[in-house]
Amino acid sequence: MRRLAGKVAVITGAGNGQGAAEAYLFAKEGAKVIATDIQYENVERMVEKINQEFPESAIPLKHDVSSEENWQHIAEEAVSQFGQITVLINNAAVFHTKPYTEVTFDYWNKALNVNAWGQFVGIKTMVPYMKKAGGGSIVNVGSIASRINASGFSPYTASKGAIEALTYSAASELGPDRIRVNAVLPGSTIRKTVKNAPTEESRQALINAIPARRIGLPEDVAHLVLFLASDESSYITGATNIIDGGLSVNINLP
Ligand SMILES: NC(=O)c1ccc[n+]([C@@H]2O[C@H](COP(=O)([O-])OP(=O)(O)OC[C@H]3O[C@@H](n4cnc5c(N)ncnc54)[C@H](O)[C@@H]3O)[C@@H](O)[C@H]2O)c1
Repeated sequence: MRRLAGKVAVITGAGNGQGAAEAYLFAKEGAKVIATDIQYENVERMVEKINQEFPESAIPLKHDVSSEENWQHIAEEAVSQFGQITVLINNAAVFHTKPYTEVTFDYWNKALNVNAWGQFVGIKTMVPYMKKAGGGSIVNVGSIASRINASGFSPYTASKGAIEALTYSAASELGPDRIRVNAVLPGSTIRKTVKNAPTEESRQALINAIPARRIGLPEDVAHLVLFLASDESSYITGATNIIDGGLSVNINLP
């Protein structure tokens, strides 16, 4: 029996990186996947690849997670194509860096709007459908940037802190409806859109600070998210799960 058989999962930001790895793994494990992204061409390409291997298991949808109307459309499409919604992976985010003194109100708003409001409104929209389905699992993707110092990340860090707090409040409020809500907090994970470290020297310094001595792969995070989406984690809710190769517990003194 595949680990997500019978599940219907909405995964945001599924056109790249971790979201794409999750969409692939979820389909492999038997889920029906609604793969969404603001970059439609990427998610369309991803879904084509998934459906070649696992026929009729995924659909691509264009989606701006900061738009409440967009969320409603995603929910209606998911139900019309696959009958119900039981899993939500709130993965999409924007990531930019600026020194504290250069952050403008608009810049702050963009990070909070996409990263934090985008997850909140996703939960708000999907919960009635999950209740109808008899329960569900929500995974919010945060970051260890909300736990450890990351200079130049201020609005991103604030948005990821909001996600942790939101995870606790949602888990508490939605538990009686058999809806679990957990967060994953990745450390440095390979991404196409932004380089983890701009030079070979800074990349090596980053690797040296990670006890596991490598930058994470999107698939590392996808396996954790798969576990949290599946019934194997049925007694886990309101948990923040760090996945960083040990980076956040390491004090790498020279
Ligand atoms: N890569 C890392 O080092 C790292 C570390 C910690 C946390 N994270 C978190 O993991 C998640 C995935 O990161 P990734 O590295 O795969 O990122 P990524 O940049 O490769 O992918 C993010 C996806 O989100 C999409 N997106 C951006 N704005 C959107 C919007 N308004 N609506 C819908 N989609 C939108 C992008 O088009 C992109 O496909 C994010 O929440 C990120 O903050 C990543």
